[in-house]
Amino acid sequence: MHQVTVPIRDAPYQVLIGSGILDQAHGFLAGRPADSPVAVVADANVAERYAGEVRDGVTAAGRKACLLLVPPGESSKNLSELERLYDGFASIPLDRRSTVAAVGGGVIGDLAGFAAATYLRGLDLVQIPTTLLAQVDASIGGKTGVNLLQGKNLVGAFHQPRLVVADVATLRTLPPRELRSGLAEVIKYGVIADPALLEQLASERDAIQRAQPEAVEGLVVRSCQIKAEVVAADERETGRRAILNFGHTLAHALEAATVYHEYLHGEAVAIGMVAAARLSCRLSGMSPEVSRQLEELLRSYDLPVALRTPVDPARLMEAARRDKKARGGALTFVLARSPGDVDLFQVDESRVLEVLEELMP
Ligand SMILES: NC(=O)c1ccc[n+]([C@@H]2O[C@H](COP(=O)([O-])OP(=O)(O)OC[C@H]3O[C@@H](n4cnc5c(N)ncnc54)[C@H](O)[C@@H]3O)[C@@H](O)[C@H]2O)c1
Ligand SMILES: [Zn+2]
Repeated sequence: MHQVTVPIRDAPYQVLIGSGILDQAHGFLAGRPADSPVAVVADANVAERYAGEVRDGVTAAGRKACLLLVPPGESSKNLSELERLYDGFASIPLDRRSTVAAVGGGVIGDLAGFAAATYLRGLDLVQIPTTLLAQVDASIGGKTGVNLLQGKNLVGAFHQPRLVVADVATLRTLPPRELRSGLAEVIKYGVIADPALLEQLASERDAIQRAQPEAVEGLVVRSCQIKAEVVAADERETGRRAILNFGHTLAHALEAATVYHEYLHGEAVAIGMVAAARLSCRLSGMSPEVSRQLEELLRSYDLPVALRTPVDPARLMEAARRDKKARGGALTFVLARSPGDVDLFQVDESRVLEVLEELMP
């Protein structure tokens, strides 16, 4: 088992990464005040497989634990599911020393995390991510929240977990498309911080695609180290943390313009990274060879490197402008000079349109 520390100033915490380590979660949960209950939040796809084990482990150790279910999917990350969780918390009932355990992908982590951030003005939270995307990204860093009809993640809070347990064995049951979506974020970490990670992704592709725990574990560890480092340096995203958004300016716009139906997040990020790399060749001195290698790597993982269906460029630009990361109408992009060397750039819309043109089907 590996341990990565997220060195947040007030309350540093550990990310435990390994295969078959769910018992680390119940061990930790059971060790908290025995007379106050735990709420285990999960969706139906992970409830029986994993969340039940966590609940039973806590109960066996003598602390009351209840399982609360949320329907699977992004559409559950909303205010009415949040209210249903509050109802569940109240009927258990949770108290101030209770812990919320989020077992599942980023949807459960964000929703249960926000419920934990706000119920009784804040309860302890343990993240038990079961998708690759959540293990390398969503479960770390303390961003929690829900969507509104007007947009994604518009309501939320920073609420750091006490512990993250990433059991890579859970990825074996993850649909391959979801695994690939998470791999796009791993590729992103390679581009922003670690060229060696890109080499590893290229050389161990077969084992990684089969979700072999030994192969995936190393990727999760390295991704968590990078995210932990960036987050600790800039907990509230006032500066450097924005480099985690490499590929995300266009990804968010594409997701919004296609109403979240056509692309999984990681797929949109893959296309966004191709666009960012091509802009990097024009504006920040990336060599075309590096950009080509990135496209090749994405393609080798069956991730999209261009739009699958046409989208009106004007609609995409409008969505990009609306994204909360846009400042004063200018489009902010994370661009790379070379892998591991990235910065924020203001990019003229005409340059973005040029690249979009190239990526249309
Ligand atoms: N808080 C953050 O910093 C942060 C960062 C990135 C993304 N996010 C959020 O994360 C969400 C996306 O997360 P996601 O990609 O994990 O999606 P998700 O939570 O919807 O999970 C994807 C699908 O996989 C299923 N699933 C989960 N684990 C499984 C397993 N082990 N076996 C079989 N099926 C399993 C889920 O039920 C779901 O159907 C978005 O809402 C996004 O905004 C948050
Ligand atoms: Zn992302």
